Amino acid sequence: MKKTAPLLQVENLTKHFPIQKSLFDKLVFRDGRFRMISQTVYALNGVDLAIQRGETLALVGESGCGKSTLAKTITGLHEPTRGRILYGGKEIGVLKSRDRRPFQRKIQIVFQDPFSSLNPRKKVLSIIKKPMDIHENVPKKDRPARVLDLLEKVGMDPAYAQRYPHQFSGGQRQRIGIARALACDRNWSLRTNPFPPWMSPFRPRSSICSWISRKNST
Ligand SMILES: Nc1ncnc2c1ncn2[C@@H]1O[C@H](COP(=O)(O)OP(=O)(O)O)[C@@H](O)[C@H]1O
Ligand SMILES: [Mg+2]
Repeated sequence: MKKTAPLLQVENLTKHFPIQKSLFDKLVFRDGRFRMISQTVYALNGVDLAIQRGETLALVGESGCGKSTLAKTITGLHEPTRGRILYGGKEIGVLKSRDRRPFQRKIQIVFQDPFSSLNPRKKVLSIIKKPMDIHENVPKKDRPARVLDLLEKVGMDPAYAQRYPHQFSGGQRQRIGIARALACDRNWSLRTNPFPPWMSPFRPRSSICSWISRKNST
């Protein structure tokens, strides 16, 4: 049987953050003379993982262990210090930002804090439509209808498209964030927080979960 490449694969992914300090802070007196020191945060050190189509991977770890950094590096928000990121067997880490776009469209983040990740000045319609405006993956005239469809898919009344983020509960805002992530017609999403109770992996029969897994397996 022919072995298919994983949907997403990460090899030896490493991300170090040099700490920017003023010259004065970098200068220390040690062993009888002044020396320049530089400090680095070693957020990721050689991460390897592979996710097959239709598979869900939960990354669990204490605060500060590098979960968000891994998600941000995979999606291109951070440049990796070292290592390879492959999507469907194709290395995307080496691509120029324009050539990376089609892949970025397929990998979306649902942010942990639904309020701070939704623009308070924009209506839900415009928030969910934004990725389609950027990636132009849906014809312009069809975008509003697709927003309404996505709202329904995440279990919300399409009439909510005309409301602002502050008019929703935390759970509803999470759903708006998920609808926005799905707007790119992605194959799967990266979540930087545990599933909210209504989307618990232990309750996979909820309509949103079954819809997402259907999408994942196509
Ligand atoms: N932009 C950054 N600059 C410097 N250090 C960072 C930056 N982002 C994250 N870090 C550091 O990297 C480590 C991992 O952080 P993070 O990935 O946010 O952890 P987690 O999501 O697992 O709680 C932490 O020590 C954090 O302080
Ligand atoms: Mg985090």
